[in-house]
Amino acid sequence: MTLPRPDASPTKKLYVKTWGCQMNVYDSARMTDVLAPLGYRPVTSVDDADMVILNTCHIREKATEKVFSELGRIRQAKDAKVAGGGTMIVAVAGCVAQAEGEEILNRAPTVDLVFGPQTYHQLPEMVARASETAGARICNTDFPVEEKFDFLPEESADPGPSAFLSIQEGCDKFCTFCVVPYTRGAEFSRTVRGILDEARRLVGLGAREITLLGQNVNAFHGEGPDGNDWGLGRLIMAMAEIEGLDRIRYTTSHPRDMDDGLIAAHGSVPALMPFLHLPVQSGSDRILAAMNRKHSQADYRAVVDRLREARPDLALSSDFIVGFPGESDRDFADTLRLITDIGYAQAYSFKYSARPGTPAAALDDQVPEAAKSERLAMLQELLSAQQRAFNQASVGQVVPVLLDRHGKRPGQLQGRSPAMQSVFVAANKAHYGSIVDVHIDDAFANSLTGTPVENRAVPNGQAPALEAFA
Ligand code: SAH
Ligand code: SF4
Ligand code: F3S
Repeated sequence: MTLPRPDASPTKKLYVKTWGCQMNVYDSARMTDVLAPLGYRPVTSVDDADMVILNTCHIREKATEKVFSELGRIRQAKDAKVAGGGTMIVAVAGCVAQAEGEEILNRAPTVDLVFGPQTYHQLPEMVARASETAGARICNTDFPVEEKFDFLPEESADPGPSAFLSIQEGCDKFCTFCVVPYTRGAEFSRTVRGILDEARRLVGLGAREITLLGQNVNAFHGEGPDGNDWGLGRLIMAMAEIEGLDRIRYTTSHPRDMDDGLIAAHGSVPALMPFLHLPVQSGSDRILAAMNRKHSQADYRAVVDRLREARPDLALSSDFIVGFPGESDRDFADTLRLITDIGYAQAYSFKYSARPGTPAAALDDQVPEAAKSERLAMLQELLSAQQRAFNQASVGQVVPVLLDRHGKRPGQLQGRSPAMQSVFVAANKAHYGSIVDVHIDDAFANSLTGTPVENRAVPNGQAPALEAFA
């Protein structure tokens, strides 16, 4: 098979739509990188695209449904393009592709290519096959033996001030509700060297914050340059030495993999931001056991205590599932109690969604939809109250904000506080990408507003140029 020569390819339009977790966001950027030598350039509209990639999520039923409704819309765009004599390759990637494979080709005739998360480095070959043979329909859900990360090209696009870096993939935990071990495969860690090289390149391209990603990111381990086995804590210490990298975060972690080195890093590495997403799912030991979480609610509390001892200002976030099979009012009350005791800065919560092929889907005592809705509303009320109180406590304080987005209004930039709060800041465009000390003026349910404090030393050594606030 011949691959199109990079210099022989005219510019083609690539439309990528991404659902799911940050790993999918990272993967979409890498797929764009892989296709760049073939002449594909990202566009923001499906109309007239030469190639469409839907990078999908299978975590809950609703996430999967969204893909098929989007495919309906894409079929219209493709039909219009084909009627005009053009072509459009439609691909489904990500976790739905991995889980449903051929089934997608059967259900959606408009789809040409289906491929799973472990095959993205093979994308040029798959695209070449699809373009060379009209009507060829390809399904690739292998877990190839070669290491995907060894074959992906270096990232080419501007990562922005806040970049993602996948360091670990897959999960061996097999929580009984979850599809991830099936869609992403076994736990796998990238090499320390590959990660540090990529981190330096991202900083060279302008990133000031890096979020290390993994389905179970704190299960990461690998041989360091000193020949020792490094865990995530040690890796973070090495990352902190990269000049120009001001902020480090990581997600998503599992309570069982919170080891001493990582907890200590929270106390000793100032660049490691004081915010941690540490999902617990439930506060009931009975439900935690049925979920196969392999930790009790007391274990979780103990980990949180140790983290807060290391870093007293650590803000916490979590995921919660309500209505897991067999969850009683009493179990649910245990979850509310845990939330009240821990105190979260923010959190995500979901109704249990039975996923085909997972052990919990086969359990008898499924919770009725009405009870799930009622519990979710109660839980979210408690979590929202905690988030509002957490945000309110920031009012009047001065916090460093990394301005990593343009705001919705002119004269406004958006950024994140160390504790991951969204902050809308009156600041001119020139401050995009810098970390600015901001006086917090007001707090809302999901965000803060603030005004930069003048007279601060700008980290790059230039005189403060903060006069032009709208
Ligand atoms: N690896 C992460 C979570 C990945 S999935 C971890 O272990 O925490 C993100 C979240 O989706 C989970 O934390 C869980 O709260 C939720 N989730 C996963 N499967 C679900 C299901 N079947 N129904 C409802 N929520 C689910
Ligand atoms: Fe899913 Fe559990 Fe693995 Fe998280 S730890 S990805 S919830 S199986
Ligand atoms: Fe969804 Fe797959 Fe991430 S199922 S949450 S996209 S690992």
